Amino acid sequence: MTAPDSDSAPQRTSVAVIGGGSIGVAFAIVFARAGHAVRLNEPDAARRQSIAQILQARLDDLSGYGLLDEPAGAILSRIAIVASLSDAVADAAYVQECAPEQLALKQTLFAELDRLAPAGAVLASASSAITASAFAADLPGRARMLVVHPGNPPFLIPVAEVVPAPFTSEAAIAFTQDLLTGAGLTPVLVRKEVEGFVFNRLQGALLREAYCLVRDGVVSVEDVDRIVRDGLGLRWSVIGPFETVDLNTQGGIASHAQKMGPAYQRMGAERGQNDPWTPDLVEKVAAQRRTLLPLDRWAERVAWRDRRLMSLVRHRKTELEA
Ligand SMILES: NC(=O)c1ccc[n+]([C@@H]2O[C@H](COP(=O)([O-])OP(=O)(O)OC[C@H]3O[C@@H](n4cnc5c(N)ncnc54)[C@H](O)[C@@H]3O)[C@@H](O)[C@H]2O)c1
Repeated sequence: MTAPDSDSAPQRTSVAVIGGGSIGVAFAIVFARAGHAVRLNEPDAARRQSIAQILQARLDDLSGYGLLDEPAGAILSRIAIVASLSDAVADAAYVQECAPEQLALKQTLFAELDRLAPAGAVLASASSAITASAFAADLPGRARMLVVHPGNPPFLIPVAEVVPAPFTSEAAIAFTQDLLTGAGLTPVLVRKEVEGFVFNRLQGALLREAYCLVRDGVVSVEDVDRIVRDGLGLRWSVIGPFETVDLNTQGGIASHAQKMGPAYQRMGAERGQNDPWTPDLVEKVAAQRRTLLPLDRWAERVAWRDRRLMSLVRHRKTELEA
């Protein structure tokens, strides 16, 4: 077994997944698909009984879409479903905790994992909003603990937020990033612990406004989903929100902020939010965008975005509307 002070995660390692709900089952697929031996721990007997069938169905679907490099059975054979926590983690190099989102439960579970898992194993939580500082600060092995928050399901949504606490070791972070990358995920390092991390804070900003708009009778629930599905979301599957406004405005994002900043500030103030896009902040954002895309390549990138959207729109026409 390779310890987290090694240079990078090994090709094949021993992974324990704790909690066999939606995320645990999906993570078991991610790691087994990458060739790792997975021990999936689920304490609830009825749930445990159903997991093999769920895994088989998901893997058959992935295979049907040509998304597996080998037969579903070969991947399934790498996953052992176990009732006991100590059996699950006995020889693990990496533990992915996927138990319910409750602080007290995660605190107890990480104390147990710290006691049961080999000293070199990295212990990660799939927590959606609870930070490692909240569940691990008092534990002796806290340097090997952090959050790895996936999109749902991680075997389809590659981004995974890696959220260390100030006490998490660099070695544990590097090992985790290597392991996730090797498993086909896209780890994004979150530089400060904030509740909800980045994924859910962005989602939360949109959802909070959506709730307000429905409450105030501006739009129906169905039409909010339509505007995101056929508008914002369609574009965001090709480029993110910063690049969107950068490419939507001649002169790039600085020009967008100048034209639209005051209107967005009024919209925020209506909701009690006072976070203006100050000149310093706009300069910081614009400088990062200009490093990623010099303005002399702006038109070329707009054409690229349109071609990516054409490909996506064609896919939606042939596949989704069939
Ligand atoms: N569902 C999502 O969209 C999503 C996305 C990203 C992260 N997460 C996070 O992943 C974690 C798991 O979420 P989920 O949606 O899979 O939950 P879930 O309720 O579907 O599954 C949790 C599983 O953990 C089991 N469990 C309960 N107590 C346990 C214990 N002490 N030890 C081990 N297993 C235990 C339960 O029996 C259940 O099968 C949560 O922290 C959640 O916030 C969820």
